Amino acid sequence: MPNKNDSVKENKVVLENVNLSYSDGTESLKNVSMPFVANSTNVVFGPAGSGKSSLLRLFNRLNDLADVTLLEGQVLLDGENILDPNTDVIALRRKVGMVFARPVVLPMSIRKNLTYGLELAGEKNKTVLNESVERSLNQAALWDEVKDRLDDPAIALSGGQQQRLCLARSLANEPEIVLLDEPTSGLDPISTNKIEESLQILKKDYTIILVPHSVHQAARTADYSAFFLQGKLIEYSAGKTIYTNPQDERTRDYVEGRFG
Ligand SMILES: Nc1ncnc2c1ncn2[C@@H]1O[C@H](COP(=O)(O)OP(=O)(O)OP(=O)(O)O)[C@@H](O)[C@H]1O
Ligand SMILES: [Mg+2]
Repeated sequence: MPNKNDSVKENKVVLENVNLSYSDGTESLKNVSMPFVANSTNVVFGPAGSGKSSLLRLFNRLNDLADVTLLEGQVLLDGENILDPNTDVIALRRKVGMVFARPVVLPMSIRKNLTYGLELAGEKNKTVLNESVERSLNQAALWDEVKDRLDDPAIALSGGQQQRLCLARSLANEPEIVLLDEPTSGLDPISTNKIEESLQILKKDYTIILVPHSVHQAARTADYSAFFLQGKLIEYSAGKTIYTNPQDERTRDYVEGRFG
């Protein structure tokens, strides 16, 4: 059987003509159409306020909780429009893990941070829970550092370790898509590197959607990139050419550090 990573990769999610506005009149996404490719790191970058977080919030319907007055178009996940009012949002959110800029660990043990979601979903089998803890910590490159203190409070971990714990927590429920919104913005270079390395491994099994904290991080991590400005998709490309040879002047100005 051909390895799926060697063949043409499928589009896990496709946005079609998405418009999103908030009640204050801000048009945060303007007629956005683009794919997000499976088994790849899909980078969404651009200056502050360009709509990156609004875009990420489409995937798990977090915009439902915001002051959104207009949401048009389609977000097709495996071909199904998740903006449809009949979407099972709980099931959707199980498919979509999310890591935010600041690590938010629960005031519990390291282990409990990881089993909490599964236990809420009714999982009681200790073997299943323990396997999930070990697998997700390994995937987040944290297992070796915490395996001997899984019952210590998570809050005692360093910032970089806490962020990797948040990544592990998002993986514990076995999602299909992992959203990361500037996950390393508060981290030192070593912790940043660890997160970037684990993304390289994770993309073999997941669809990664990353808002990077810098153009350098975008260029290091991206398989596919989308540059946004004021809610508009300006340029989309596979590989690294958007960083080395951008086609649009606005992309070029941003990549070369002339604004942002
Ligand atoms: N809940 C909200 N209510 C009203 N306006 C919002 C809301 N969230 C975002 N916006 C506006 O939508 C636009 C896009 O914001 P968004 O947070 O998506 O941008 P971003 O690219 O993630 O920016 P940053 O790099 O600062 O995180 C901005 O003008 C912002 O002020
Ligand atoms: Mg943002």
